[in-house]
This record gives sequence, structure tokens and C-alpha cells, in this order.
Amino acid sequence: MEKNITVLPGDGIGPEIIREAVKVLDRIGEKFGHSFHYTYVDIGGCSIDKYGVPITEEGMELCKSADSVLLGAVGGPKWDDCPAEIRPEKALLGVRKALGLFANLRPTRLFPQLADTSPLKREIVGDGIDLLIVRELTGGVYFGGHSTEEKDGELVATDIMPYSEHEIERIGRVAFETAMKRRKRLASVDKANVLDTSRLWRKVMHRLSEEYPEVEYSDVLVDNTAMQLIKNPTQFDVLVTENMFGDILSDEASMLTGSIGMMPSASLSEGTLGMYEPIHGSAPDIAGQNLANPLGTILSAAMMLRYSFDMAKEADVIEEAVNAVLDQGYRTGDILQEGCKKVSCSEMGDLVAAQIG
Ligand code: IPM
Ligand code: MG
Repeated sequence: MEKNITVLPGDGIGPEIIREAVKVLDRIGEKFGHSFHYTYVDIGGCSIDKYGVPITEEGMELCKSADSVLLGAVGGPKWDDCPAEIRPEKALLGVRKALGLFANLRPTRLFPQLADTSPLKREIVGDGIDLLIVRELTGGVYFGGHSTEEKDGELVATDIMPYSEHEIERIGRVAFETAMKRRKRLASVDKANVLDTSRLWRKVMHRLSEEYPEVEYSDVLVDNTAMQLIKNPTQFDVLVTENMFGDILSDEASMLTGSIGMMPSASLSEGTLGMYEPIHGSAPDIAGQNLANPLGTILSAAMMLRYSFDMAKEADVIEEAVNAVLDQGYRTGDILQEGCKKVSCSEMGDLVAAQIG
């Protein structure tokens, strides 16, 4: 198969981790007879520096016309003081919206080899953690109005959090369908004791749950979810939640696995076009030093093969290769354990590619 991939390396460690994911994709291409064509586009701070905007219109068009998009990370302290309209993050949100990427899948899997790097006790992580956060990605407070105005001699800031029934229903459907393919348990996370958006969320989810009688459904308040993720994470299978709650809970959940550097994500639209990125940021403190963990990005590339290109076999091969390299004791600094071999970002990419054979 031939596939056009728009690659957005971004800032900080972005270019380093992307290089390794592309290395692994090329290896897959050779092995399975696929041609992946890459078009590189600047996004975030590097684009602000070159063009004065976090992504150019042409860059945005190249994302829309691709078969899928692979992203590294955006942002860094250098651009923290940019006006809201041209911040690096603005480009990321812009691409999500323009491509209609409403469903963000964030799997949290503890590789058993890394159990001791999790800050949680062995008895809590048990035999492993395998949960999936389904985060709504194009609605809520991220995309409601934002304003700061002067009132009665002081500044007043407002962020609006709108949700409509159809937005809740389509993400709910993705969550129920995903749960059907897994352990058939779905927890819907909200703040229905306070927010109207959450009460509507719950109403729509309850309506949907009648269509999926096989799915064991529950409502959990977001504050309680934050606690339960630490207290008893293995109780969860699929969690579905609105945009900002999902942002926060997915960072928390990543820590169950030892390192945020291991966590991939897929952002999906109604069609096959998707954007794939690790959930971590641009880590400016280690940028350019070949120290980053590329596995979250490599596993995101595997998700791209699975969800956008219908290449399940190829995705399995990447995931098995990552597993094998961890079995062999190779670790980047963030997941280093006693007795393991410390490798750089590019060495980790080489090892995974070589493992694919
Ligand atoms: C994420 C990030 C983004 C978000 C930022 C960079 C805007 O934290 O993908 O989780 O909040 O969605
Ligand atoms: Mg986040």
C-alpha cells in the first residue's frame, strides 16, 4: 500500500522522537511492501520563529489532505509569552478542530517489565494495568469562548465550556464500541454534581447505554476517578470523558505505567484520517541531547497503522518489537532500572527497527 503521512516534528525533543518513529515505519514498509511518503511541516514554536504563526495555512492543508498525521510535541518556555492567538498550542488545537479529530484514545498499559518503575506499589499495579481513556477532543472549554476584560477596576477572565448532545453522543458511541472490543466495562467520568455540561453528558450516556446492554456501565465523578486511579487502577477498562478532564486524567494515568514517555495516543475523526502523537510534551530540558524515550511515538505510529491504515498485523509487529527490546533489558533514562542497559533515543529506535527484522 502507498500512504501519505504528514509529519509534524514540532519543538524540543519532537524532531528526535519523530526520527525514530519514521525509522521504525520505514522498516515496516520494507518488510511488508508498503511505501510511506512523508511530508514534513513545521508546527509550534519553530513555525512561529520562521513564519510568525504556529502553523501556516499551507501546512494545515497538508494535514487535511494526508492519509494520516504523525506529531512529535509542541511548545517550550521560549514561546510562553506569545499572545494567546499565536501560542504553539494553538496550532495543535487548530489541527484537531480542522481535521474533526473528536475522539482521542489514550491507552495506559503497564509493560510488566516496567512494573518496578511505576511509583505505585506492586500490590496495586497487580499483574499489569490495561485501561483506555477516551477523551473528547474538539469541544468543551478548550473551544468555548475565552476572554479577559476589565470590570469594576479589575480584570475578569472567562472561559466557556459548551457541549451539545451530538458531540456527547458521537464520543459516547466510540467509547461503547471500544468497550465492546475489550473487557466490556465503561466508566463515564463527569462532574454532574456541579456542571450542566456534565448533567447533559450523563443523560446522553445513559441513553446510549441502553443500546449496549452487554457493557457494564458506571458514572464516576472526576474527583473520585482521580483518586480511584491511584487507589485501585485495575478496576478500570474504558473511561470516557470530556476534553479537559481527559487531559488531566491521562497525565495521571500515564504515571501508573512508570513513564509518560511510553504513552501513545490516537486522535480520530469520523473517517480514517487521524493524528498520532505521544501524550508527553516537548521536554525542552533534554532536547537535542539524544536522551528522550521514543517509545511513546513509536507506539503512536503503531496506532496509526492499526486505526488509519487498517494494518493490524504491522501494528502488532511494532508492539511486539517494543516488548522484545524491553525484555532484552534496554532502557532510556526515564525508565532505567538496576541491571538494565541504558540506551539513547536513537539507539532505542535502532533496536526496535532491528527487532522487526
Ligand atoms: C495534550 C496536551 C495538549 C492538551 C496541550 C499541549 C494543548 O496537554 O495533548 O494532552 O491540553 O490537549
Ligand atoms: Mg495533556
